[in-house]
Amino acid sequence: MANDFLSEEKISEIRDRASILEVVSDYVSLKKTGRNYKGLCPFHSEKTPSFMVNEEKQIFHCFGCGEGGDVFAFLMKTGHFSFPEAAKELAKRYGINLPRREPSPLQKKEMAKKEVLFRINQMASEYFNDLLTRKGEGEPGRKYLSQRSVSEQMVKEHRLGYSPDRWDGLVQHLTEKKVPLDLAWELGLILPKKKEGWYDAFRKRIIFPIFDLHQRVVGFGGRLIGEGQPKYINSSESSLYHKGEVLYGLQAAKRHASEKDGVIIVEGYFDLLTLHQYGWKHSVATLGTALTTQHIRTLRRYTKNVITVFDPDPAGIQATLRTLPLLLEEEVTGKAVLLPKGEDPDTFLKKGNLKGFEERLAKAIPLIDFFFEWLMKTHDPKSVDGKVSIAKEGIAMIQRIPEKIRKDFYVRALAERLDLKESVLYEMIKSTPAERTRPGEGLKKRPPEESLPKSEEIVVRLMVHHPELIPTISGEGILDEFESPFLKRLGRELEGIFQKKGKLNLTEALGGVDEGLKERLCEYAFQENGVEGDQRERILKDCIEKIRRRRSKKDESDLLRKIKEAERQKKGGGLEALLMERQEMAKREKGLLKGGFRKD
Ligand code: UTP
Ligand code: MN
Repeated sequence: MANDFLSEEKISEIRDRASILEVVSDYVSLKKTGRNYKGLCPFHSEKTPSFMVNEEKQIFHCFGCGEGGDVFAFLMKTGHFSFPEAAKELAKRYGINLPRREPSPLQKKEMAKKEVLFRINQMASEYFNDLLTRKGEGEPGRKYLSQRSVSEQMVKEHRLGYSPDRWDGLVQHLTEKKVPLDLAWELGLILPKKKEGWYDAFRKRIIFPIFDLHQRVVGFGGRLIGEGQPKYINSSESSLYHKGEVLYGLQAAKRHASEKDGVIIVEGYFDLLTLHQYGWKHSVATLGTALTTQHIRTLRRYTKNVITVFDPDPAGIQATLRTLPLLLEEEVTGKAVLLPKGEDPDTFLKKGNLKGFEERLAKAIPLIDFFFEWLMKTHDPKSVDGKVSIAKEGIAMIQRIPEKIRKDFYVRALAERLDLKESVLYEMIKSTPAERTRPGEGLKKRPPEESLPKSEEIVVRLMVHHPELIPTISGEGILDEFESPFLKRLGRELEGIFQKKGKLNLTEALGGVDEGLKERLCEYAFQENGVEGDQRERILKDCIEKIRRRRSKKDESDLLRKIKEAERQKKGGGLEALLMERQEMAKREKGLLKGGFRKD
């Protein structure tokens, strides 16, 4: 977890000073039970509390959904913070100074250049806005907006502009302001002429400045006034503008999205303006691109409930369905609103369907239901083949849901639709590995309970609660003989920290391991077994013996299997040769086993 401006010491300092109890208490109401505090888990819905906080160890864990970690992890899991943001937040709260890392000369240069680029966009935005709101030349723009019933308030709030029907309006303006024109070109504001000189990229258009979260202009969209092609143009990709990341209107919508705990996503500039104008201020627009994971992550900082509004045509339906897996993976709930054929939010609302729109929002269909519905429509759910296809596609989607409760819920829903037993679908889930889109994601999957060998688990638990046993465990080299790679990794991690620091700092261990290990580590940390000192040693010894016994049994059976295999391959030879071979093998086997056993 290397962060440029956050040294390991700083992170430790924050961790030491922060109180996980205080931080969690902002989100969850907690009650003391024994050494722990208990409450309703904020990460899954539950009626009886299974979410625990341990102030002494500075960790939390939910026995219901398995989430767990330290105070950083908690803040990050709320979906409102990245790691550096969580660190900043905690540093602020607990009065810790975070030094700003000195940027390298190259970074300084880039930062300075970005500043200039922002300034140029700002100048252009003012130029367009000035034309629209103050200049005689802006009349066609004003006329167009009034035809489309865009209010003055919206022009102001979204700083709309107008680019005149000229080739050199902005070029001249920027030249007067002594702006290096090649930088304006980099931003896609102007373009080089064939021979020499420059011309405006946006002409005879309504201009929509696109803002980042800090209200800085990163790019522009332009709607042609009247008919013609292209209807819209957008800034080209630049170091400021990445269309797969930016959401139009977010700077104005973010506050409302958190307050309403929901966000409406539409496709167009005018759709956004109209929604804002009529009071649905928790709306944003994607700009000529499909919704990306990056978009969802940005939105997730404000809310985990999104409503998409799409055209009911096949392309719109496809686009709606494509967002579903992304939302599922980011643990964001998606619902869909479908408008009547041929309408977009702008045309629909401008016809006065305000109530109709609100009703549609209220009745928005969960995307996963929408997806199931679509599966039922595109396959024949009465035929066996149809059922199989629906089940397969449905399961593939359900597999992407990280939260178990939700998963179970949708397995049930799918089973009901298909009139199948849930167990059939669970069988399918077991036999089809989840399709993962992100690297390292596979690690997140928690191994099923039964797959962890008990004795190995006990050894790791002992390491967690009685780190003083770690040297003994290391000395025995028993981690090497673990059958579970998962527990082996966990054990190694603990061993490593202990060897490095001479003690076991749990929160540090949590920082170093991946999600799956983290959950398990937290779980162990909360379950103390309270065994007496001398018993611990005995338990450890028992476990080590068991692990070794199983290990050697496994070696033995592996060997026998190999022999049988060898026998089969030898079948062609005469009986004598076979027997000879067998005897040889038996001899070898004995020798191997002897060498394989450890002295005990
Ligand atoms: P639409 O074609 O649905 O247009 O494109 P619209 O938003 O309804 O526009 P009006 O109402 O006719 O003015 C939806 C969005 O796709 C992007 C724009 O962001 C647009 O708002 N788009 C569309 C482009 O980027 N380029 C285009 O040529 C067309
Ligand atoms: Mn439209």
